[in-house]
Amino acid sequence: MESIKEIFQKEHDEARQGEAIMIEPTIANASARKLYIESYGCAMNFADSEVVASIMLDMGFQTTTDYKEADVVFINTCSIRENAEQRIRKRLTDFRAQKIAKPSTIVGVLGCMAERLKAKFIEEEKLVDLVIGPDAYRDLPLLLSQADDGQKAINVLLSREETYADITPLRLNTNGVNAYVSIMRGCDNMCSFCVVPFTRGRERSRNVNSILKEVAELFSNGYREVILLGQNVDSYKWLDETTQELTNFAALLALVAKVNPLMRVRFSTSHPKDITDEVLQTIADHANICNSIHLPVQSGSTTVLDRMNRNYSREWYLNRIDAIRRIIPGCAISTDIITGFCGETAEEFKDTLSMMALVKFNYAYQFSYSERPGTPAAKKMKDDVDDVTKAARLDQVIALQRGHSLEKLKEFVGQTHEVLIEGFSKKSANDFAGKNDQNAVVVFPVVDSYKKGDYVQVLIESCTSATLIGKIVN
Ligand code: SAH
Ligand code: SF4
Ligand code: F3S
Repeated sequence: MESIKEIFQKEHDEARQGEAIMIEPTIANASARKLYIESYGCAMNFADSEVVASIMLDMGFQTTTDYKEADVVFINTCSIRENAEQRIRKRLTDFRAQKIAKPSTIVGVLGCMAERLKAKFIEEEKLVDLVIGPDAYRDLPLLLSQADDGQKAINVLLSREETYADITPLRLNTNGVNAYVSIMRGCDNMCSFCVVPFTRGRERSRNVNSILKEVAELFSNGYREVILLGQNVDSYKWLDETTQELTNFAALLALVAKVNPLMRVRFSTSHPKDITDEVLQTIADHANICNSIHLPVQSGSTTVLDRMNRNYSREWYLNRIDAIRRIIPGCAISTDIITGFCGETAEEFKDTLSMMALVKFNYAYQFSYSERPGTPAAKKMKDDVDDVTKAARLDQVIALQRGHSLEKLKEFVGQTHEVLIEGFSKKSANDFAGKNDQNAVVVFPVVDSYKKGDYVQVLIESCTSATLIGKIVN
């Protein structure tokens, strides 16, 4: 049986990495073949599933939320930590049973684990028909026809150019208010613990015009919040070959913000070594760019950060925090923390706790270090912090952050915040739920004259450990 801690950590991982999603049926066409797709991992993977669904729709597929009635079952996978891969292996056993029950079912493994394991996946998991890496989705028609002919099909080629810029994602599982917009792919950073550069390849930015077009279309379809996605958004750059004009991330943010003042703009993820004052000033200058920054610190110790190859020190990180607080007063700051990285001493770990105490993050995603094969850390360093110590340190980080998160939420009580209504609260159709500018969830009683997609002024009256509670005061 799973311990409470394991369940907590699993829920935690899901929160950072998104829950498995199922896609909704689109057009009702009895003769169409049916696709089921389930996604794991980060927002990029969820955004990619929407590209895949769009390509499959063009091939005449219809989507289903029940894998048992699907002709094609796709699982879009994540390799970030060992437990992420274990969950996927476990889920594949369900699909194996389905394939035995209905042998014509085609099972495809997509995404980062497909890229990491390549043909090995087909050797190890005999039920898998298709293995497709994150840059190979345009090849789906060919690969599927090979699978239909009874062959195993694989394409895990990484690209230096592919951004799927021209493909309009088929929005899955959507509330019709928030949408992910991918602005770049891959990562050139080589943090020593991280598998992403190997599963997603080199960094490349998407054409600025295709991004603006997608955001404008989303706005006319009723969407009111876009979340710009990249592994390191601060290194976004697009050079227009004809005008020779260079768009950096600050310029992109300003352009996206100008699409419509009623469209909220968020982004993820910033890198402490690259986030500039120009970006911060752009956020401050545009009311619709939200005041919330996710700035993964990973560790509070300069020596650990060096081993992680993060390319910043504790002092540098704290300087960036000061800049955020100076340029965007009241901006929420969230982070990612890893405990028990190679060689982490008790002293070094204390630096992480003191960093947390200094910054008081609004929110943090916390992980214990999981060695990933092939990464620089796996090749050059010893995974020498024992599991018990890793877990004990993780517990300390979780407990400390829980206090800080609550403290930060309490600061909002008594204030009036603009909230974008995203739908009804999970618990009751008598309450709306949405977020304030600082990305905190706010729940408040329904007032009939308002609906999803509207902005309302909400007086925050109280809070729980994760939610603000209030009432509309417009
Ligand atoms: N590009 C983003 C995040 C990518 S992965 C960034 O640079 O911050 C999301 C988070 O997973 C990371 O921030 C890190 O905290 C965690 N992570 C990545 N690899 C890990 C590993 N091997 N073990 C534990 N946590 C890891
Ligand atoms: Fe991984 Fe570092 Fe790139 Fe983030 S910036 S994806 S942690 S290599
Ligand atoms: Fe996982 Fe790949 Fe994202 S490894 S976190 S799905 S980039």
